[in-house]
Order: sequence, then structure tokens, then C-alpha cells
Amino acid sequence: MPYIDSILKENRIFYPSHEFSRKSRIKNMQEYSRLYKKSIEAPEKFWGEKANELDWFRKWDIVLRNDMGFFKWFEGGQLNVSHNCLDRIVKSGKKSKIALIWEPETGESKKYTYEELLKEVCKFANVLKKIGVKKGNVVQIYLPMIPELPIAMLACARIGAIHSVVFAGFSSDALKDRIQDSKADLLITSDGSFRNEKVYPLKENADAALKNCPTIKNVVVVKRAENNADMQNGRDFWWHDLINDKNVMDSCEPESLHAEESLFILYTSGTTGKPKGILHTQAGYLLFTHLTFKLIFDIKDNDIYFCTADIGWITGHSYIVYGPLSNGATIVMYEGSPTFPSPDRFWRVVEKHKATIFYTAPTAIRALAKEGNEWPDNCDLSSLRLLGTVGEPINPEAWVWYHKCIGKGKCPIVDTWWQTETGGILISPLPGATPLKPGSATKPFFGIIADVLREDGSRANVNEGGYLVIRNPWPGMLRTVWNDPKRYKSSYFEKFGVYLTGDSARIDEDGYFWIMGRIDDVIKVAGHRIGSAEVESSLVSHEAVAEAAIVPYPHDIKGQAIYAFVVLKKNFRKSEELKEELKIHVSKTMGPIAKPDKMQFADDLPKTRSGKIMRRILKAIAEGSKDYGNIMTLADPGVVDALAKNRVK
Ligand code: WTA
Repeated sequence: MPYIDSILKENRIFYPSHEFSRKSRIKNMQEYSRLYKKSIEAPEKFWGEKANELDWFRKWDIVLRNDMGFFKWFEGGQLNVSHNCLDRIVKSGKKSKIALIWEPETGESKKYTYEELLKEVCKFANVLKKIGVKKGNVVQIYLPMIPELPIAMLACARIGAIHSVVFAGFSSDALKDRIQDSKADLLITSDGSFRNEKVYPLKENADAALKNCPTIKNVVVVKRAENNADMQNGRDFWWHDLINDKNVMDSCEPESLHAEESLFILYTSGTTGKPKGILHTQAGYLLFTHLTFKLIFDIKDNDIYFCTADIGWITGHSYIVYGPLSNGATIVMYEGSPTFPSPDRFWRVVEKHKATIFYTAPTAIRALAKEGNEWPDNCDLSSLRLLGTVGEPINPEAWVWYHKCIGKGKCPIVDTWWQTETGGILISPLPGATPLKPGSATKPFFGIIADVLREDGSRANVNEGGYLVIRNPWPGMLRTVWNDPKRYKSSYFEKFGVYLTGDSARIDEDGYFWIMGRIDDVIKVAGHRIGSAEVESSLVSHEAVAEAAIVPYPHDIKGQAIYAFVVLKKNFRKSEELKEELKIHVSKTMGPIAKPDKMQFADDLPKTRSGKIMRRILKAIAEGSKDYGNIMTLADPGVVDALAKNRVK
């Protein structure tokens, strides 16, 4: 059953236990409603009060200012994010508390106390300064899930450098595009990364990318995989050589930074063209991830929090690094594949470290559910008290499995809706308060006015699907698109004058939000955000391809998968071998996550008379639906039948 149908029929409600509510920060819906009302009636007062939870070197003059559509938070204020995530926690008496538990795919886990993590960050911050990185410089980071990744991010934050992390599953072209746009000075990478015991050659990918990235002056390489690394004299340095130098001190004064100075750029896919560099700044982002983490994960001092996301995506930035650390939480960070050496790996990690909170993507839940209940049943999951999901809609079947087989019926599930652009969670249950409906992200967080609009900008009726928008600014929102302020305005504010999310949703009779998925050309494959345009340009970069169009189709495990329509150049012959070659080409240039699952050779694509490809029609064909809509506006309506006949099932 397609999940949309099952959502429409879903009407079960799950309440938090009395015990859970009693101990939680927000205990019931009355409390939520009261605070929510306050937060939207007087947002500046609300956020100003909350901002006092952070350490400031200088207090702000004004909470919020709208500078011609660009929002500024806490202007006049000065602070340092790494100081707030480390020094502040150490000073609060938690220096010996474990900050980070790193679980490698194979081998011993490694633990860092807050004090140890602070020292490592200071050392690397001093290294960065020594090799010439200055405040405002961009540092590109292309690392697997190893402790050096958060250490490098926090070290950048400490000295005011702007980090830009590229997911280590991306290949050289994706890395090159991002560096060319960010104009980074320094690249931090490793000799390899592990997944399913295989070694992925990150340094080799980096070297290929750097052939066309003249702004990069130096490369710092972490030795992770004992893999060959071709170290270029004068340009490349080993991390361990730099950091073990006796002259590198383990203390480093945090730079006092203005609230609106840049903290990081994270590239994400949009509707058209190359990925956009989403810019987040210091104070607002920190405050928003701090508060959302605290209330949505209802964090307690003795919690062990395990988030399976990769730090290369926004979930890892906000809810492995900044949100948890600024709350003084203990984080479990896992390096490898969820099924290595067997499909109980996540549950074994929960058992081993006695994790109390577990946060993952619906794709992982569906994939692990398929492996059978004996895997979780044979692990001790009794430490768990709260579960979360993120990244894509969760179908009620998967939700109920998660609730029953992992949470043993006693753990609330926070289905958290948000985006790279939003910095943190905007729609989510509060676990001690919100009655849960499987498949619904429930209600907006404090200070967030979410709504669903029709094409003409009017409000949709109850249960009517439409454009999900956010009507007001919030501290964690993106500030601009790096190097492209016009695109910030046109992508997010042009259509309705309020923030356009790119998702469709409906609001039910209880005011619960049901996210239906993207309405633009972004595809969520296994929760990863992929732009059709990027995959298309990867295909077209192959010598055999004249034209390509990418659309999503529903997939049992991944939620959505990629269907590619490819028109070959005249002198190339259609063959299964060529299809395989093209799929591998995408995997090699962009990364395995973008590899099309299905590919169909086409003689022609459905285009309007002005030459625009009609994706709506291709999507229907890929789904096996005959619901094409109007095809008479096509230059050649005959194309549609020919394509439908040859659909790859
Ligand atoms: C989707 C990930 C349904 C949505 C944090 C959004 C979700 C996109 C949910 C952003 C959820 C995220 N339910 N859909 N709980 N969370 N999405 O930028 O389509 O990688 O627009 O950020 O993920 O993806 P991004």
C-alpha cells in the first residue's frame, strides 16, 4: 500500500506514559499551548530570555532585525560557539563527563570527556592558526565519521573560520563543485574511510577534485585507513604530525565573534542547478539547536544519546555536534554501516553504551525491520527511553514497528520535521506532552508559525494538501545562500513572501501536520537530499549521453528511489552494459547515494513547445501511473506512449 493511503487511514493515538510526562520538561499540552502562545505573541521577549542560557562575551543590543528580507538575530552580541559547547560545560562542573563516545565500525570504542575534547579542539585550533587559517576563511572538511570531524568543526568555530563539511559518501566532482563555490583555503580529509570493512579512498577523491580548485592552499590528512595517500610536498600535511608537534598548546582563547558572523556553510540540493551553500551564523543557530535539542529530546544529565546520522548532513551538525554539546550531553557517534557485521549493529551499540535516546531515519527503520524481529529481540534495549526519526516521512507501519519492537511500547517517538535551511527542528512532538499519531510530525515548536497554503496564497482547508510555509523568522533559519543572496530571496521568499519549505503538507482537524514530501525537483533517497539537476548533469557528462531526466519513484525501503530517462547520442547503441556503465559513472562522479536504481533509454523526452522537459509526466510513467495530466501542450504527445511502453518495472 503506498504510504499516503495508509496515512489517510491512520487514526491511532499514542499517549506518553504518566511516568514519562511527570519527569519531562514540558509535561502536558496545556503547558505547551501556554508557552507556544507566549513565544509567538512576543517572539523577541521569548528568544531574548532563552538566549540568557548561553555565555555571552557581550550581550546583544537588539534581538531581531529585518534588513530588507535578510534576518539578523542578536545584533551587537558577541560570543563563541565552541566556548559555549566546551568551556562553558567544563566550567559548570562537568569536565569529567563523557562528551563523545566514538564507536568505530571495527575495533575499540574511544571516549572523550568534555575536558579532553576541549583540549583536542584547542590543539587543532592552534594548528589551524599556525598553518595560516584566519577568521572568516573557509575550511572545507571531507572526513568520515571519526572524532577528528567534530574536533575540526569546533576548532574552526573557536577561531572564527567558517567550516563547510562535505559528506564523505560524495565523490570527487561533488567535492570539487562545493570547493569551487565556497572558495575554501584549506581542505581537511583522510586517507580513507570504512564502510562494510571496505576502504573508500577519500584522499584520492580529494586529489582529483583539487586539480580544479586553485583556492585550496593546504590539505590536512587524517590517517584513518592505512591507505595510500599521495602526499604533495609543501601542500599536504598529516594531522598527527601537526597536532603532536611539541609547540602546539592545548589551550586556545576563543575568538569573540559577532552574533551574525558566519559559522558554517552546508551545501544542499535545490530545485535547479548546482547545490546551494546554506549559510548559518553564530548565536541564533546555537540558541536554536540548543533549545530544540533540550526540549525535544527532553535531555537529562544521565542520558546517553545515539544519533545515527552522518555529520556530513545537517542532522549531524545540529544534533550530533552543536545541540547536544551545548547541553552538556553524552553523544554516541558510530562510524560504519548499520548492518555490519550483522543487522543488529545499531541495537548492539545501544546495548553496549546503554543509550537512552536513539535518533535515526525512517529508511534505516524500514530496512532493519525487514531483517526480522530476532535482531532487536536478542539485544538488551531496556536503557532506551526516547526514540526519534528525521529526514523523510515515516509510514505508520514502520512507526508502529519502531514503537513496539525497539521502544517496547514505552518510548515516545519524536518525528522531527526540519531542513538544512531551518538549522534545527521546526515541527515535532514534545515527548512528555504531545499525543502521537504515527506518521505525523505533530505540532510546531515554540516560536514557529507553520501553515499550509494553496497555489494562490490562501490558506488550505483542514486536511487539504498544499505548500508548507513558515510565516515568521526564527533564530536557526538560514541567513543567505553563500555567494548568491538573490537565490536566497527567489528560492525561499518570492512565491508567497513567507518562507517556502519546498514540502507539501496538510493540517488535520487537531492541528497536526502531516508532511507529504517534496513538491520541487529534490528527491529524498533513503533520507538523503539529492537534486535531480545534479544527477542529470553527471549523466550528461558521460560521452554517450545527449540528454537525461531524473525523477523519483516510490521505494519500499528507501522511501523514494531514482529513475533515470536517458537519451543517447546518435552513434551510441542502447545496451544493458551501457546502462550499467552510466549508473557506475554517476556513482563515481557524484557518489553511490545518487546512483539511479532504474534507467530507461528513450528516443525522446516529453517537452513543451518551448523545450521544457515535463517531469510531471515522466514521474507518472516511472510510477506506472497513467495519470499524466494534460499532454496536448507537448511538442510531440506521441512520446508519452512510447516511453510508457518501455517502462522499467
Ligand atoms: C524531508 C534533513 C517528513 C522534507 C533534516 C524536508 C521530512 C527535507 C522530515 C529536508 C520528517 C525531513 N517528515 N519529511 N520528519 N524531516 N524531511 O535538508 O522533505 O536533508 O524538506 O534536512 O527532508 O532535508 P534536509
